[in-house]
Amino acid sequence: GASVRVDISRIEEGSILGPIPAWRGRPIFVVRRTQAALDALGTITDQLQDPDSAQPEQPEYATNAYRSREPEVLVLIGLCPHLFCSPTPRLSIRPEPFEENWKGGFYCPCHGSKFDMAGRVYNGSPASRNMEVPPYYYESDNILVIG
Ligand code: FES
Repeated sequence: GASVRVDISRIEEGSILGPIPAWRGRPIFVVRRTQAALDALGTITDQLQDPDSAQPEQPEYATNAYRSREPEVLVLIGLCPHLFCSPTPRLSIRPEPFEENWKGGFYCPCHGSKFDMAGRVYNGSPASRNMEVPPYYYESDNILVIG
């Protein structure tokens, strides 16, 4: 399918754009992560199934510490890898009473899979893969091209 162009200049820190319809019929999430969210990524690796995102078939920039081209901007396919429900963004740290010590991320309402702020799946989730990072690049500082 055709590429999708996204202007990310108006995404405030700590907020999300999306789901954006649609690259190959799949919704896209774009999140501008805070420094606190980025710092938290390294503190939860023992709670994740695949913290290094070693799973195959994803862009090479999905395997770095942030799973993204630019640390602050996360681009994900907004589908749960379990049975493809749409995960709900839970971006704030500790949105009580949801969960104590929550570091931000995504929660799938269908069967309770949990993902961090890089789309990495937590232990104990029915999903067995991290959320997928689509192919994308920066056309300019504020224009992302997905696909
Ligand atoms: Fe998300 Fe089952 S579809 S947990």
